Amino acid sequence: MTAQLNPRGDVAVLVPAAGAGVRLGPGAPKALRPLAGEPLLVHAVRRIAAARSVHTIVVAAPAADVESVRAMLVPVAPVTVIPGGAERQASVAAALAAVPTGPEIVLVHDAARALTPPDLVESVAEAVRGGHDAVIPVLPVVDTIKEVDATERVLGTVDRAALRAVQTPQGFRRSVLTAAHRAAGDPLTDDAGLVEKQGVAVVCVPGSELALKITRPFDLALAEHLLTLGA
Ligand code: CTP
Ligand code: MG
Repeated sequence: MTAQLNPRGDVAVLVPAAGAGVRLGPGAPKALRPLAGEPLLVHAVRRIAAARSVHTIVVAAPAADVESVRAMLVPVAPVTVIPGGAERQASVAAALAAVPTGPEIVLVHDAARALTPPDLVESVAEAVRGGHDAVIPVLPVVDTIKEVDATERVLGTVDRAALRAVQTPQGFRRSVLTAAHRAAGDPLTDDAGLVEKQGVAVVCVPGSELALKITRPFDLALAEHLLTLGA
């Protein structure tokens, strides 16, 4: 059944899905590869659409697949599909440009984090609604982290207590994200990084293990297993 979005919602979610998935190995663009019989993007969009504040979803698809992605998502939720760019940042900028007037909170969420629970979408949006300009979901770092030089010689041990692993969705007051993208220089892999460069405070909320980014074949196998457990 096609999900309904909330016409009174205040949240637009941008879904960069235009990457190739090189680290996953040869095959279709990552967002279109199957996970338990459905494309990663379908899993991701279904969960975003289940978050009650979501008014608009804009997907940045691989340029060659815009029409097929549009057709694929018709039974899932009402979404806008636009062609992405060569870098993630360009894909996000293109999706941001397609957000209609209305939503004042914008979330950016990787299609590759296909099992992200709707509750995490809501908690990030709620933190922005509560007054923060920029919000990121994070997890503590579990491994010991070493800094090394170009020859893999250890330079030192970084204090893990002060480190966080960053996930998506990342949430922003719309004007803040728009200004950050307008001022953007070299491509970064996350949007909070652009906002930090503008001197805007970024705050953390608890992330979710289910929001893992499917990057390598191991992650895909883990996601398949998590689905069998009810994720
Ligand atoms: N992405 C995008 N446009 C790009 C590159 C990436 O929209 N030009 C998206 C991906 O589709 C993904 C998210 O950004 O949902 C996070 O990127 P990543 O996990 O690196 O995915 P890929 O770039 O597809 O993977 P790889 O780097 O292994 O090729
Ligand atoms: Mg990439």
